[in-house]
Amino acid sequence: MNYNMPQDQKDFSSVSPSAKSLLLMKGYTNIPYAKQTAALMQGPEAFDLDFDNKDFWFWIRVMHFESRYWSIDQLLQQTNHKNILELSSGYSLRGLDLCVHDAGIHYIDTDLPGVMEVKQDMILQLNLENAAKGKFELQSLNVLDEEAFKRVTDRFDDGPLVMVNEGLLMYLNLDEKRQLCKTIRQTLKQRGGCWITADVYPKRTTETTLPHSKSESAFMEQHNVEDNKFESYDAARAFFEEQGFEVMQEAVPDYQNLSVLPHLIRFLPEEVRNSKQPPPKIHATWMLRAV
Ligand SMILES: C[S@@+](CC[C@H](N)C(=O)[O-])C[C@H]1O[C@@H](n2cnc3c(N)ncnc32)[C@H](O)[C@@H]1O
Repeated sequence: MNYNMPQDQKDFSSVSPSAKSLLLMKGYTNIPYAKQTAALMQGPEAFDLDFDNKDFWFWIRVMHFESRYWSIDQLLQQTNHKNILELSSGYSLRGLDLCVHDAGIHYIDTDLPGVMEVKQDMILQLNLENAAKGKFELQSLNVLDEEAFKRVTDRFDDGPLVMVNEGLLMYLNLDEKRQLCKTIRQTLKQRGGCWITADVYPKRTTETTLPHSKSESAFMEQHNVEDNKFESYDAARAFFEEQGFEVMQEAVPDYQNLSVLPHLIRFLPEEVRNSKQPPPKIHATWMLRAV
């Protein structure tokens, strides 16, 4: 049971195992700290990924998650804000990496308590607790708990705030998404700044559907992932506009520089390998501002 959770709220902790599967995949990339933290992960993972037989689809997934990770960094670099709040960060250590390189940054990294406990332990095991030059904090936060959200944002000094997230909105139903948008918008209206979300996923088409293991399909069904996605990119834009946001920018994927590329290339048919066409677009990362 999530001890930060108000009585009337849903328990989201069943979503948390997905963060572990993602980290194990990211362990094959050059995402900061992913290899080291993945090596510390204990026990089985939820999606039955076949690490002994890494095929084309395995590397396609790694490519997707690596590209999604960098897409947030790409847009973050366009803002010059020093206060950054990551929501539902899972086992990602983007914030620590930024704070290792920049003493001016205050980064608050949040997720549900169970994830934060494991992450704190990983940081200790890797002797990274004093690595940050900037101010790096781990805080438990259920993003739908408005009061807790405010307590976390109050930890920042005055000034604009950037909120970032990836891999969250597809676990929230429409009302929950609206509620989160309201909280984020209020925060941005008060402080200035922007919201960078990599979770602009339209429903899948035959072109963008990846094969899933049985357990992954069951996980997606249990959490209504497909229903929670947007009908289309236009519908996503309309949704955010209705919630009082404007899309300022979209990240541009840089497939050529992904660390996963050499692995993936080995599995690509020759005609695809030589093609200049990017892979099918399955999501977008947007920078939003409150209007
Ligand atoms: C698919 S993982 C993504 C993790 C990380 N952002 C990444 O991309 O590797 C989904 C994450 O959302 C978190 N989560 C789900 N519901 C949440 C909520 N209501 N508040 C905060 N975090 C939540 C889970 O604990 C989990 O870590």
